[in-house]
Amino acid sequence: MNFPVWDVGFGLPLLIALVTIPHVMVAHFAIGGGLFLAIYGARARSTNDPAMLSFVRSHSRFFMLLTLVFGALTGVGIWFTIGLVSPAATSALIHTFVWFWATEWVMFFVEIAAAIVYYYGWDRLDATTHQRVIWLYFGAAWGSLAVINGIITFMLTSGTWVTDHNIWPAFFNVTYFPSLIFRTLLCLVMAGIFAILTAAFQNDDSLRSRINRIAILWTIPSIGLLVPTGYWYFSALPQSTKLIVSGGWTALKSAQHNLFTSAIGLSILVVLTMLTKNRNLNRVLSGFIILIGLNLFGSFEWYREAARKPYVISNYMYSNGMLVNDTTSIKEAGLFSSMLWKHSDQTMKGEDLFRAACQSCHSLSGYNGIAKMVAERGWTEEQLGQLVQRTGYFRGAMPPFVGTVEEANLIATYIATKANSLNATPESLTPKRIWDNNCGLCHTLDGSRPLRATLSGLSVADLQETILTVDQLSDAIPKFFGSDVDADKLASYLEAQISKREEGVSK
Ligand code: HEC
Ligand code: HEC
Repeated sequence: MNFPVWDVGFGLPLLIALVTIPHVMVAHFAIGGGLFLAIYGARARSTNDPAMLSFVRSHSRFFMLLTLVFGALTGVGIWFTIGLVSPAATSALIHTFVWFWATEWVMFFVEIAAAIVYYYGWDRLDATTHQRVIWLYFGAAWGSLAVINGIITFMLTSGTWVTDHNIWPAFFNVTYFPSLIFRTLLCLVMAGIFAILTAAFQNDDSLRSRINRIAILWTIPSIGLLVPTGYWYFSALPQSTKLIVSGGWTALKSAQHNLFTSAIGLSILVVLTMLTKNRNLNRVLSGFIILIGLNLFGSFEWYREAARKPYVISNYMYSNGMLVNDTTSIKEAGLFSSMLWKHSDQTMKGEDLFRAACQSCHSLSGYNGIAKMVAERGWTEEQLGQLVQRTGYFRGAMPPFVGTVEEANLIATYIATKANSLNATPESLTPKRIWDNNCGLCHTLDGSRPLRATLSGLSVADLQETILTVDQLSDAIPKFFGSDVDADKLASYLEAQISKREEGVSK
C-alpha cells in the first residue's frame, strides 16, 4: 500500500496477461527450439543431409529473431509491467531471491551470447564447435527456466518460508518439480509447433512433410504427458487453492476446460498438418496451430495466477500488496490512514480506497469489472456496503477487507454510482439467482464452506427461518437481501437440492 497505484481502465490483470502470455510462449520456444536445433543439426551433419541442414539453418534465423528480439523486448515489458502493477511483490521477490536472479541473468547472458555466436557461426565455425555452441545455448536456456521456475512456484506454494525464511525449501517448494516438468514438456510442444510454422514456408514438399512428421514426435507425446504432470502439479497445490478451483470460481473451471480443449485441438491440427501435402493449407493450419498454442499457454498461465488468489505470494502478500502480517495493524488504523497515495486534498474518497484495496484484481468496467457485476446482481448501495465489509469471506478469491464500516460504504457508493450508470436490468430472481446473490457468494452446498450437512434435515419452514435470521449466526454473514417471499423460494430450492442429492447417495 506504500506504492503509487497505476490506473489502467481495462484492468491490470488483463494488461499483465497481454504482456506475459506471448512472452511466456516464446520463452518456452526458446528452450525447446534450442534442443530441436541441436538435435537435428547434429543429425543432419552426421547423416550428411544437406536439405535438413539447410532447414535447421533457416529455422535458426527465425529462431534468433523471435527469441532474441521479441523475447527480450517482451521480457523487459514484463518487468516494466509487474513493477508498476505489483511493485510490492516485485520488490519482495527481488529481495528474497537476490542470488537466484543473479544466476538467472548470467544464464540469460550466456543464452543470448550463444545464440548470436551460433547464428553467425554457420560459415565461420567448424561443425563440432558450432554444435557445442547450440548445446551450450540449450543448457543455459533450460537452466534459466529451472531458476525462474523456483521463483514462480514459490509465489504459488511458499511452504514454511513465511515463518522460517529458509530459502532452499522456498525455492524447491512442493510445486517446483511438477511445474518444471510441465514447462519442459511445453517447451517440447513449442519446438514442434514452430517447426511446423517454419516448414510451412519451405518450398521443398518432401522436406516439409519430413519436418511435419518430426513435429508430431515432439508435440503429441509431450501433450499426452502434460495430462499426468498437470494432475501431479494440481495435487501439490494447497487444499485452499483446490477449493477455489473446485467450488469457488467458475472462471477457473472454464480455464481448466479451455486448457483441455486446446490440448486436444492442437493434437488434431498437428496430425492434420502431417496428412496434408498442400503448402497453402499447411500455412493456414500452422496459423491456427499458433493461435491454439497461445490459447493453451494463456489458459495455463491464467489458471496458475488465478489459483494463487487471494495472494500474490502465497500466505505472505495479498494481490493488493498488503502483507498478511499487516492486516491486524491496518485494521486498527483503518485503510485510509495506512495509505500513502491518495488525492491531494486528503479527504477520504471511495475512489482512492477502491484503488488501494480492490484495483489490483478489479477494474470498474473492464476486466473483472465490478460495476458490471454489481449492476447485474441488482444490489442496492446499502447491500453492497454490507458485502464490501465481508469480501474476505467470499469464496476464496479475495483478501480480507481491512477497512472500517465507513470505508466499506464509501467504496460501495463509488462502485454503485458507476453501476447505476450502466443501467443493467437485473435478471429476474429465480431461486438459483437468490442463492447466488446471497449465500452462494460465500458458500457452496459441498466443497467451499459447505452447507449441506448443517442444513440437511431441516424443513422448508426451518430453512426459511434460518435464512431470514442468518446474520445472527456470525458477523461474517450479511443480512438476507430479499423479501419473505424470496426467502421462501430459496428455502424450497435448498430443501429440494439437499434431498435430491441425498436420494442420489442412498441409491
Ligand atoms: C485478489 C484479487 C481480488 C481483490 C484484491 C478483490 N477482489 Fe473482488 N473478486 C475477485 C474475484 C476473482 C472475484 C470473482 C469474480 C467472478 O466470480 O468471476 C471477485 C468478486 C467480487 C464481488 C462479487 C461479484 C459477483 O457478482 O459475484 C464483489 C462485490 C467484489 N469482488 C468486490 C471487491 C471489493 C469491494 C474489493 C476491494 C475491497 C475486492 N473485491 C478486492 C478478486 C479480488
Ligand atoms: C459474506 C459471506 C457469507 C454470506 C453471503 C453468507 N454466509 Fe453463511 N457463513 C459465512 C461464514 C464465514 C460462516 C462461518 C462463520 C463462523 O464460523 O463464525 C458462515 C456460516 C454459516 C452457517 C453455519 C454453518 C455451520 O456449519 O456451522 C450457516 C447455516 C450459514 N452460514 C448459512 C448461510 C445462508 C443460508 C446464507 C444465505 C442466506 C449465508 N450463509 C450467506 C459467510 C457467509
